[in-house]
Amino acid sequence: MTRLVGLSGSLRKASFNTALLRAAVGLTPDGVEIVEASIHGIPLYDGDLEAEHGVPEAATRLKDLVAEADGVVLFTPEYNNSIPGPFKNAIDWMTRPASDIPRVFGGKPFAITGASPGNFGTVLSQEAWLPVMRTLGTRPWFGAKLMVSKAGSAFEDGRLVDTATEKKLADFIAGFAAFVAEGKR
Ligand code: FNR
Repeated sequence: MTRLVGLSGSLRKASFNTALLRAAVGLTPDGVEIVEASIHGIPLYDGDLEAEHGVPEAATRLKDLVAEADGVVLFTPEYNNSIPGPFKNAIDWMTRPASDIPRVFGGKPFAITGASPGNFGTVLSQEAWLPVMRTLGTRPWFGAKLMVSKAGSAFEDGRLVDTATEKKLADFIAGFAAFVAEGKR
């Protein structure tokens, strides 16, 4: 079994990115599982908070999920042509404490996708994540790109209804899972 963790970078109940993640959960090939994860409950990073209380429980839970997974997929929104602050904050907490060896993202297969109501489907946000994920030592998969644009019509009541996007998403997950499984051999 190949176990992936899918992390949505939106806190919104009606998030397109969480909806995309949920669609992916239902489109996995045989032998592949996606565990849904969220960034809820993580405070703003504050070095004083960390010194006093350590890494917050919600961030530790995410770290554990990533540590147990064979690969990670980020489902990222785009804010002002870049990474959304709440999502970056969550990932930053997950890299703490700096003394963690091995680092949770180190060598971890990684893929990224995202959805936005606009015409460009998070292309700039996805690009902006790359130097971050390189710094964390992930093993990126560049086998396919998936930018879900015009999300307002691709989703209805939290369900992916655009069949072309559904096919692309299924291929995207299958491609990444094959890359992950190859590395496990
Ligand atoms: C946005 N949005 C947005 N969309 C986009 O395609 N490019 C952008 O640069 C921005 N910038 C931006 C800034 C801020 C502060 C907000 C709140 C929103 C719109 C964004 O894509 C939209 O709100 C999505 O619905 C967010 O993703 P979720 O929450 O639906 O997953």
